[in-house]
Amino acid sequence: MSSKPDPNRHPSQDSPSPPAALLPAQAADLQQRAIAVAHHAYAPYSNFRVGAAILLTDGNIVTGCNVENASYRLTVCAEQAAIAAAISLHGPTIRIRAIAVANLNDTASQPCGACRQTIHEFSTPDTIVFYPAEAGTIARATIAELLPAAFLL
Ligand code: THU
Repeated sequence: MSSKPDPNRHPSQDSPSPPAALLPAQAADLQQRAIAVAHHAYAPYSNFRVGAAILLTDGNIVTGCNVENASYRLTVCAEQAAIAAAISLHGPTIRIRAIAVANLNDTASQPCGACRQTIHEFSTPDTIVFYPAEAGTIARATIAELLPAAFLL
Protein backbone atom coordinates (compact mmCIF):
# COMPACT_ATOMS: atom_id res chain seq x y z
CA MET A 1 0.00 0.00 0.00
CA SER A 2 1.34 3.45 -0.89
CA SER A 3 2.01 5.83 1.98
CA LYS A 4 2.29 8.87 -0.27
CA PRO A 5 0.46 11.86 1.15
CA ASP A 6 -2.62 12.95 -0.78
CA PRO A 7 -1.68 16.36 -2.26
CA ASN A 8 -5.33 17.36 -2.21
CA ARG A 9 -5.71 16.73 1.48
CA HIS A 10 -6.14 19.91 3.52
CA PRO A 11 -3.98 20.09 6.69
CA SER A 12 -7.13 20.61 8.75
CA GLN A 13 -8.05 16.99 7.93
CA ASP A 14 -4.81 15.56 9.31
CA SER A 15 -5.05 13.32 12.33
CA PRO A 16 -4.74 15.40 15.49
CA SER A 17 -1.34 15.68 17.17
CA PRO A 18 -2.15 18.24 19.86
CA PRO A 19 0.61 20.77 20.58
CA ALA A 20 1.28 21.85 24.15
CA ALA A 21 -1.74 23.73 25.47
CA LEU A 22 -1.74 27.47 24.96
CA LEU A 23 -0.64 29.15 28.17
CA PRO A 24 -3.04 31.69 29.73
CA ALA A 25 -0.27 34.30 29.34
CA GLN A 26 -0.04 33.57 25.60
CA ALA A 27 -3.80 33.95 25.22
CA ALA A 28 -3.74 37.20 27.20
CA ASP A 29 -0.87 38.50 25.06
CA LEU A 30 -2.78 37.73 21.85
CA GLN A 31 -5.85 39.47 23.27
CA GLN A 32 -3.83 42.60 24.12
CA ARG A 33 -2.33 42.68 20.63
CA ALA A 34 -5.76 42.31 19.03
CA ILE A 35 -7.04 45.29 21.04
CA ALA A 36 -3.94 47.34 20.24
CA VAL A 37 -4.18 46.81 16.49
CA ALA A 38 -7.94 47.54 16.54
CA HIS A 39 -6.92 51.15 17.25
CA HIS A 40 -5.46 51.21 13.72
CA ALA A 41 -8.75 50.13 12.11
CA TYR A 42 -10.17 52.18 9.27
CA ALA A 43 -13.89 51.90 10.00
CA PRO A 44 -15.56 55.27 9.29
CA TYR A 45 -18.75 53.61 8.00
CA SER A 46 -19.55 51.11 10.74
CA ASN A 47 -17.47 52.60 13.56
CA PHE A 48 -16.89 48.97 14.49
CA ARG A 49 -13.13 48.73 14.98
CA VAL A 50 -11.82 45.19 14.96
CA GLY A 51 -8.35 43.75 15.55
CA ALA A 52 -7.00 40.23 15.09
CA ALA A 53 -3.78 38.74 16.43
CA ILE A 54 -2.53 35.43 15.11
CA LEU A 55 -0.10 33.08 16.81
CA LEU A 56 1.45 30.93 14.09
CA THR A 57 2.57 27.37 14.74
CA ASP A 58 6.20 28.54 14.32
CA GLY A 59 5.74 31.03 17.17
CA ASN A 60 5.50 34.19 15.11
CA ILE A 61 2.70 36.63 15.91
CA VAL A 62 1.03 38.79 13.25
CA THR A 63 -1.81 41.30 13.60
CA GLY A 64 -4.37 42.99 11.35
CA CYS A 65 -7.36 45.32 11.53
CA ASN A 66 -10.45 45.92 9.45
CA VAL A 67 -10.16 48.29 6.49
CA GLU A 68 -13.47 49.61 5.19
CA ASN A 69 -14.29 51.20 1.86
CA ALA A 70 -16.94 53.61 0.56
CA SER A 71 -17.95 50.73 -1.68
CA TYR A 72 -18.98 48.71 1.36
CA ARG A 73 -18.43 45.27 -0.14
CA LEU A 74 -14.70 45.94 -0.58
CA THR A 75 -14.24 46.02 3.19
CA VAL A 76 -11.51 43.75 4.52
CA CYS A 77 -12.13 42.13 7.91
CA ALA A 78 -9.45 42.18 10.60
CA GLU A 79 -8.98 38.40 10.46
CA GLN A 80 -8.42 38.48 6.71
CA ALA A 81 -6.03 41.44 6.98
CA ALA A 82 -4.02 39.58 9.62
CA ILE A 83 -3.88 36.41 7.55
CA ALA A 84 -2.79 38.33 4.43
CA ALA A 85 -0.07 40.02 6.49
CA ALA A 86 1.06 36.67 7.93
CA ILE A 87 1.45 35.18 4.47
CA SER A 88 3.17 38.30 3.18
CA LEU A 89 5.66 38.17 6.05
CA HIS A 90 6.16 34.43 6.49
CA GLY A 91 5.11 32.73 3.28
CA PRO A 92 2.33 30.45 2.06
CA THR A 93 2.96 27.51 4.39
CA ILE A 94 1.92 29.31 7.59
CA ARG A 95 -0.47 27.56 9.98
CA ILE A 96 -2.56 29.30 12.62
CA ARG A 97 -2.17 27.95 16.12
CA ALA A 98 -4.51 30.52 17.65
CA ILE A 99 -6.24 33.72 16.61
CA ALA A 100 -7.71 36.34 18.93
CA VAL A 101 -10.33 38.75 17.62
CA ALA A 102 -11.30 41.89 19.56
CA ASN A 103 -13.31 45.03 18.97
CA LEU A 104 -13.29 48.43 20.63
CA ASN A 105 -17.08 48.52 20.97
CA ASP A 106 -17.41 46.15 23.93
CA THR A 107 -19.66 44.01 21.78
CA ALA A 108 -19.98 40.25 21.65
CA SER A 109 -18.96 39.33 18.12
CA GLN A 110 -17.99 36.09 16.44
CA PRO A 111 -15.88 35.93 13.26
CA CYS A 112 -18.06 36.28 10.18
CA GLY A 113 -18.58 33.33 7.84
CA ALA A 114 -16.08 34.54 5.27
CA CYS A 115 -13.43 34.91 7.98
CA ARG A 116 -14.15 31.42 9.27
CA GLN A 117 -13.50 30.02 5.80
CA THR A 118 -10.30 32.09 5.52
CA ILE A 119 -9.06 30.97 8.94
CA HIS A 120 -9.90 27.39 8.01
CA GLU A 121 -7.68 27.59 4.93
CA PHE A 122 -4.62 28.05 7.16
CA SER A 123 -5.77 26.02 10.15
CA THR A 124 -4.72 22.79 11.82
CA PRO A 125 -7.04 20.39 13.64
CA ASP A 126 -6.20 22.32 16.82
CA THR A 127 -6.54 25.93 15.68
CA ILE A 128 -8.18 27.95 18.45
CA VAL A 129 -10.27 31.09 17.92
CA PHE A 130 -10.82 33.58 20.76
CA TYR A 131 -13.65 36.08 20.31
CA PRO A 132 -15.63 38.53 22.46
CA ALA A 133 -18.68 36.98 24.12
CA GLU A 134 -21.41 38.29 26.43
CA ALA A 135 -20.65 40.56 29.39
CA GLY A 136 -17.05 41.24 28.42
CA THR A 137 -16.02 37.59 28.53
CA ILE A 138 -13.84 35.91 25.91
CA ALA A 139 -15.08 32.74 24.28
CA ARG A 140 -12.86 30.11 22.70
CA ALA A 141 -13.67 27.52 20.07
CA THR A 142 -11.80 25.46 17.52
CA ILE A 143 -12.21 26.48 13.90
CA ALA A 144 -13.87 23.09 13.32
CA GLU A 145 -16.52 24.04 15.88
CA LEU A 146 -17.08 27.42 14.23
CA LEU A 147 -17.09 26.02 10.69
CA PRO A 148 -17.94 22.32 10.80
CA ALA A 149 -18.69 22.09 7.07
CA ALA A 150 -15.90 24.14 5.53
CA PHE A 151 -15.63 24.28 1.77
CA LEU A 152 -12.73 22.19 0.45
CA LEU A 153 -11.63 22.03 -3.14
N1 THU B 1 -15.57 42.76 10.78
C1 THU B 1 -14.36 42.18 11.00
O1 THU B 1 -13.32 42.83 10.89
N2 THU B 1 -14.34 40.86 11.34
C2 THU B 1 -15.43 40.08 11.47
O2 THU B 1 -15.32 38.88 11.70
C3 THU B 1 -16.77 40.67 11.36
C4 THU B 1 -16.83 42.05 10.86
C5 THU B 1 -15.62 44.17 10.38
C6 THU B 1 -16.06 44.41 8.98
C7 THU B 1 -16.62 45.81 9.05
O3 THU B 1 -15.56 46.73 8.85
C8 THU B 1 -17.11 45.93 10.47
O4 THU B 1 -16.52 44.86 11.20
C9 THU B 1 -18.62 45.85 10.61
O5 THU B 1 -19.13 44.73 10.00
